[in-house]
Amino acid sequence: MSDQTIRISQMKDHVGQEVAINGWLYHSRAGGKVQFLVVRDGSGMCQAVMEKTDANAERFDQLKHLGQESSLQVRGTVRAEERSVGGYELALSDARIVHATEGYPITPKEHGTDFLLKHRHLHLRSRRQWALARLRHTVIEAIRDFFNDNGFTLVDTPIFAPAAGEGEQTLFQVDYFGQPVALAQTGQLYLEAAALSLGRVYCFGPTFRAEKSKTRRHLTEFWMVEPEIAYIDLDGLLEVAEQFICSIVQAVLAKCIPELDILDRDPAELEKIAPPFVRLSYSEAVDLLHSEAVRDFLDRQLEEKKAQAAAREQEIAQWSEQLPAAKKQWQKDKLTQQIQTAREEIGELTEQIGNIPHHRELAAGFEWGKDLGGSDETIISQLHEKPTFVHRYPTQAKAFYMKPDPQDPRVVLNFDLLAPQGYGEIIGGSMRQDDYQALVERIRQMDYDQGDYEWYLDLRRYGSVPHGGFGLGVERTVAWLAGIQHIRETIAFPRLMGKIYP
Ligand code: 4AD
Ligand code: MG
Repeated sequence: MSDQTIRISQMKDHVGQEVAINGWLYHSRAGGKVQFLVVRDGSGMCQAVMEKTDANAERFDQLKHLGQESSLQVRGTVRAEERSVGGYELALSDARIVHATEGYPITPKEHGTDFLLKHRHLHLRSRRQWALARLRHTVIEAIRDFFNDNGFTLVDTPIFAPAAGEGEQTLFQVDYFGQPVALAQTGQLYLEAAALSLGRVYCFGPTFRAEKSKTRRHLTEFWMVEPEIAYIDLDGLLEVAEQFICSIVQAVLAKCIPELDILDRDPAELEKIAPPFVRLSYSEAVDLLHSEAVRDFLDRQLEEKKAQAAAREQEIAQWSEQLPAAKKQWQKDKLTQQIQTAREEIGELTEQIGNIPHHRELAAGFEWGKDLGGSDETIISQLHEKPTFVHRYPTQAKAFYMKPDPQDPRVVLNFDLLAPQGYGEIIGGSMRQDDYQALVERIRQMDYDQGDYEWYLDLRRYGSVPHGGFGLGVERTVAWLAGIQHIRETIAFPRLMGKIYP
């Protein structure tokens, strides 16, 4: 017997050959004389089929009782089999059990969100989490490629930060040899220094915000990539952001169709993402929120969501009927998973239905000068099929480093990018105040300690230039691309308010 060990993703190149695959038992089903094992190895899943003979009777019985998630090496001949998961299967000649497992806590049946979060270290092995991990990987690869291919230099910025970068309310304090310092909310201020050395730079790392909000968009620890560019203006920044997002979407469409399929994400939604994106000033966005069109839209949405929830209920009833008749275990699992997903969707829909009247009121009563709230962003991003730039927010609502618009100093030269379909903000960015005196005044106004920012002011003392940049949140981006409801699934071990285990 050949000793050729391959990964499941390589089976298509080994049809007719004897191979070995190292993996884990996803599930199994035994008839009298035939046994089906679905094995996963991290690169995919395959079915391995064993027929009972006199010679292998003992091994056959051993495998029959092998528990879910036991680790094992399967050996056999690869054959094409359309009906099998992945399109190929293994005619098993033998299997070596590496670690027999009993009582794996996550079975193919339904589990609640809390249970799964508590068992996150095991839940990562599920198909859906596998797909999300792969999608995230592709997004991060595309992010790095974009900047590396466009003349940006990677600069790693510190995590221990002596002063606030994004407002003091969301600082995590840690003790630094007796001195209180913060965990970085952004690498931006340091990146500005690097941009004046290298011209075009980016940093990419974990970011910390003590957000006291338990929304589907907030983590306390998340990954942000931030480019910073010397000699650019706001229009130029928007163009970079537009091309950047398009390049990520293209990479996902090129590499992650199987993952999108597992996630039930229609690629057609992503194929719409092409320049030009929608561009709205903040003031236009406020007018939109006040408009009759938004009220009509929300009223319609309320009815649609009620109808959707009812339709999902019906689907669940149908799938539940099909379940006992399903022949293959993986078909059963697929149905069970579909039912679980539908239940979760109904839960989400019910919550949204309850919120719409309140969001309608918030939009109608929105006052110019405030930052857009989560529900306002949702509404604006639902009204457009493409991502939407909202630019020039009120100065009073924004960070101290943003540069006011010389045409109208009540607003700053900044932008947020809202992902479509209600996903809301995935990018925040701006032109930076590059005038020494104006920046000092703003630091005073904010009641920050100027001493903390002396080095930052130096950037305006020596060779100051117009510059700007933005930050993209990886988790929110992945949630949007995956079409999932909550960002907690987009990172292996999410950190949320009130949640730090495992
Ligand atoms: O809009 P933010 O706060 O911008 C900055 O931090 C700037 N310093 C970036 C820059 O100009 N260099 O955050 C940027 C992005 C948001 O658009 C969002 O995608 C993500 O970071 N983000 C979060 N993601 C998950 N959980 C949170 N609590 C987040 N807060 C921000
Ligand atoms: Mg923001």
